[in-house]
Parts: sequence; structure tokens; C-alpha cells
Amino acid sequence: MSGFSKEWLSLRESADHRARDPVLRDAVVAHLAGREHVRIVDLASGSGSNLRGLSPFIAARQSWRLIDNDPFLLAVVQETLAQFRQREAEIDVALQLLDLAAAPHAALEGEIDLVTASAFFDLVSEDWIARFCTELARRRLPLYAVLTYSGEEIWKRAHPTDAAAHAAFHAHQARDKGFGPAAGPRAAALLEGQLKSFGYRVSTAYSPWRLGDNDADLIAALADGAARAIEETGCVAAEIVEDWRCARRHAISCEIGHIDLFARMPA
Ligand SMILES: C[S@@+](CC[C@H](N)C(=O)[O-])C[C@H]1O[C@@H](n2cnc3c(N)ncnc32)[C@H](O)[C@@H]1O
Repeated sequence: MSGFSKEWLSLRESADHRARDPVLRDAVVAHLAGREHVRIVDLASGSGSNLRGLSPFIAARQSWRLIDNDPFLLAVVQETLAQFRQREAEIDVALQLLDLAAAPHAALEGEIDLVTASAFFDLVSEDWIARFCTELARRRLPLYAVLTYSGEEIWKRAHPTDAAAHAAFHAHQARDKGFGPAAGPRAAALLEGQLKSFGYRVSTAYSPWRLGDNDADLIAALADGAARAIEETGCVAAEIVEDWRCARRHAISCEIGHIDLFARMPA
């Protein structure tokens, strides 16, 4: 198991879909326009949120390959596929159990028109981004990476421990998630820099979660998850973390920053 539960991924899915930048998504759709058949690879697909978020906007017949190293999450995709296919009849979906840390190139084999990923690149290391971009550029493949955590957070109301809690959370973000020290909030800029160095045209957009009255469950889960991470660092005393967690659980609203990125080689 990867540590990303199907319950957590399901809870965040509608906020993720709302947050995606529509202008960048339209640019991706325009890039694929005119093809009868589009072949898409989704890196670290989890339970298939990216498939559900993007496929309805693409008119062509689609073949998706969903890659993850968590067999339980791929099984969730399998379970929900029949229901999904009733609505989206023209979509083929293949599942691939693969450790992307060991083999980024294996994800890019075969005929591919678009590589995509959602909420993934902040987990990987700077070195892995460099390896991945080298492989991507060798094949001149376009990349659409959405919802990479950018580090900005605005919570209402503010709490006196926010600065210490935020610093500890970012220290935890930088821990190894299986790919070497994680790039965390630096990931989108690293990705952009690498891709530009290979000659890609890169567009980015800010795609924050803007959570409020209707997102109480997600806000509470975020507070609990962040508090657990902060506690693990040992940088903030346990009773302070607990006070912060309770305040966060009852936040009126919050904004959590992400970056969407679309990169393609010039024609
Ligand atoms: C934050 S979740 C995002 C899932 C999905 N893309 C979404 O938007 O809901 C990160 C995903 O990365 C996957 N993952 C983590 N390490 C991986 C690895 N080494 N190889 C393949 N997938 C990995 C996890 O299993 C999880 O599904």
C-alpha cells in the first residue's frame, strides 16, 4: 500500500477537479484536437481521479494507461470502471502496476500522445525530475501535470502557531517518499526549469483548492493529516500541535496552493 487511502483520494476528488485551471486544460485539449484517437498515460493514477477529471473534455476516442505502484488503488479503478464506461463508452483503460521510482522510462514506452499526472510531482526528488524529463524529452512527449503542491496556504482564522506548523509541515514534505528527498513545493519550478532546458514550451497556472462551508470534511481531514506530519517531525511540541489541529479542523475557509503545468515541444 502507498499510504494514500482510497477514502482520502475520494474525499479530495471534487476539490481537485474544481481547482484545475480551465485555460491550461483547454490548451491541452486544443493540442490534441483533430486526432481520431488519443493515447494517454497517467502517472501515479491512484484510484483514477485524473481520468475522470480530464477525459470528458477530449472529444476523440481515448486509450488510457493508468500507472501506480499500489495494487489496492488500481483495484479501485477496476471496480469503478464499469460504471465509468457506461458514461464514457469510447474510452479504453489499461492498468499497469509499476514502481515509477525505479523505472520512469518504463512508463513512457509505446505509442503515447500525452503524459499526464495529478497530485504527484511534489512527491518525487529533484534527481528523479531530471531523469524523467530527460526520458520525456528524448521522446518529445507533451506533459500535463496538475495540482502539484506549491506551498502557499491561507487559513481563516489565523492561529498563533501557524508559522512553526507550516515550517514543520514543509520539512515533512521534503522527506523521502520513495524517490529520494522530495521536491515538495519546489517541484513545479524544477519541472518547468528542466523542461525548458530541453526546449519545451511551458505554461503554468495557479490552481489552488479554495475550500469553504461545503468542504468541512476535507478541511478536517487536511488538519488531521498535517498535524500527524508535523508531529512526526518533532519540531513542534505535541500539545501545541493538538491545539493547532483543533483550530484548523474548524477553519471557516482555506486556500491550498497548487500549480498546473503544460509542456510541449515546439512543432
Ligand atoms: C496524492 S496521490 C495522487 C493520486 C491520483 N493521481 C489523484 O490525483 O487522485 C499519489 C499517488 O502516487 C502513487 N505513487 C507513490 N509512489 C509511487 C511509485 N513509486 N510508483 C508509482 N506510483 C506511486 C500513490 O500510490 C498514489 O496513488
